[in-house]
Amino acid sequence: MEQLIEHIDKNKLPKHIAIIMDGNGRWAEEQGQDRIYGHYHGVESVRNIVEGCSEIGIGYLTLYAFSTENWDRPQQEVEGLMTLLVETIRKEVPILNKNNIKMHVIGNVAMLPASAQTALNEALSMTSANTGLNLIIALSYSSRWELVNAVKNIGLDVQSGKIDAESINQETLQQYLATSNFPDPELMIRTSGEYRISNFLLYQLAYAELYFTNTRWPEFRKENLIEAILDYQNRERRFGKTSKQLLVNEIA
Ligand code: IPE
Ligand code: IPE
Ligand code: MG
Repeated sequence: MEQLIEHIDKNKLPKHIAIIMDGNGRWAEEQGQDRIYGHYHGVESVRNIVEGCSEIGIGYLTLYAFSTENWDRPQQEVEGLMTLLVETIRKEVPILNKNNIKMHVIGNVAMLPASAQTALNEALSMTSANTGLNLIIALSYSSRWELVNAVKNIGLDVQSGKIDAESINQETLQQYLATSNFPDPELMIRTSGEYRISNFLLYQLAYAELYFTNTRWPEFRKENLIEAILDYQNRERRFGKTSKQLLVNEIA
């Protein structure tokens, strides 16, 4: 970690990294264990990556922990995940505070069991004064849910005269998203060898660099994160322009 981290260009850090933490179930099954065993080990990776992002100086880290579609998994797994969620939040809050990390949640939180909502609200208020890494947990989240919600609320505000339909622009839509307080992720990582977005931040990832690795989430560590950041730093982000234009701007 120490040597690898030195290769990171601190002037070219992504402000926001988003991660689809995938592969817990398969990792567990490969060990001859229940899927939930994989989720428990996945928490170790969360701890390690959150710490890594703090050390590197990342501003925002969004972790996809549970999708809207994940509610359709077997009841036993969903219940196991909810128990793990409450346990983890309770245990981690002091560590988040110690590291000056502010927690946020995006998603349809109303669908979560009451115990999870209580634990979450406590964690949010207990970390609200922190000024270091912003840790955003996407929970019961899906991008289509978020976009429909945004459109609905815009409609309501047009109806009540709060906003004028003619004035709606990209800035307006951005303000109605669950991520309104965060910059768009520049780097999106998905573990476990799946090459898809699975309803995650569809709008916000418009110009993100995508990084896929075969490593299963329970085995993903700071070293892997650094590799992803180094890969990101070698990309040319053109935003629709040509390479030549970018060079001209760099010199100017
Ligand atoms: C990611 O791991 C965690 C959640 C979706 C909650 P999975 O549970 O999807 O693991 P795989 O993809 O089945 O291996
Ligand atoms: C995406 O993983 C959601 C999370 C990591 C929380 P899934 O495992 O649910 O995605 P699919 O079903 O393989 O696309
Ligand atoms: Mg999966």
